[in-house]
Amino acid sequence: MEGIKTIGILTSGGDAPGMNAAVRAVTRTAIYAGFKVKGIYRGYRGLITDEIVEFKTQNVSNIIQMGGTILKTARCKEFETPEGRQLAHDVIKREGIDAMVVIGGDGSLTGARVFANEFNFPIIGLPGTIDNDLYGTDRTIGYDTALNTIMQCVDKIRDTATSHERLFFIEVMGRDAGFLALNGAIASGAEAAIIPEISTEVDQLGELIKNGFRKSKNSSIVLVAESPVTGGAMAQAERVKKEYPQYDVRVTILGHLQRGGSPTAIDRILASRTGAAAIDALLEDQRNVMIGVVNDEIVYVPFSKAIKKEKPINRTLLETLRRLSI
Ligand code: F6P
Repeated sequence: MEGIKTIGILTSGGDAPGMNAAVRAVTRTAIYAGFKVKGIYRGYRGLITDEIVEFKTQNVSNIIQMGGTILKTARCKEFETPEGRQLAHDVIKREGIDAMVVIGGDGSLTGARVFANEFNFPIIGLPGTIDNDLYGTDRTIGYDTALNTIMQCVDKIRDTATSHERLFFIEVMGRDAGFLALNGAIASGAEAAIIPEISTEVDQLGELIKNGFRKSKNSSIVLVAESPVTGGAMAQAERVKKEYPQYDVRVTILGHLQRGGSPTAIDRILASRTGAAAIDALLEDQRNVMIGVVNDEIVYVPFSKAIKKEKPINRTLLETLRRLSI
């Protein structure tokens, strides 16, 4: 905390509903505590190209309900190089920024960690990604909204699936994680989820067919997590067409619509709480930690832990899904 007068804030990587609520919470809590706030546009790219504007409380008015991010976002290759990070550091010095709050997913927090260590610079991270794949927090900002979007889409697809008595493979996002697919399947009453976490252990599609899915039904919906490991919905559908030609198969890839929309109450509250906690963390001299929420309590997770890519999926949920789909 010592010496910190101005806090920079940026959003980076894939946008997620609730990022604006987080920007608002960080800005207002910082100003309330007596700091100056600077909004950095377009993630790390804007840090390198100096797209930085001072934020007052009005800059974040009427944004809590908005999807996307008013700060814009980017995936910046240049920041992955020492030269790019040096340029960013020069800008930080010039702008008089003494600490940063970075809102983003795995890649963004990895960048934050490297930069923080390289320049001994205080950074606090907020978990902003629909993928829910950051370790040390029960949920990430944007995950609940994306889950609700998936549920609403599957409800609609079910109408046509039932009418035509078809088998639908619906591909959802998640990068290398199956949280959206598994919980999306439970929330929408799908027959199954095919997820990367167990793809190498079990032939999920084979099991499904062996157990006679659609036994008692005239249509079926299977959620497939996008991933090279699952092959995505197309690969699953191709296999069924080849091995089980009796099924009338269709594929829907939900794509980027999963990232849009007004954040749910759960995401707004998560973003607001973690955003405020980011400033508390700086006041407590914390640095290089991500703010998480575990069992409804704020926790500080060192970057090295948050990004270690081992957030476990709750396997009992798979069993629940299986039991509910008979
Ligand atoms: O990390 C968020 C995410 O939406 C992933 O689920 C997905 O794999 C990826 O970003 C898509 O990235 P882009 O918007 O760059 O295509």
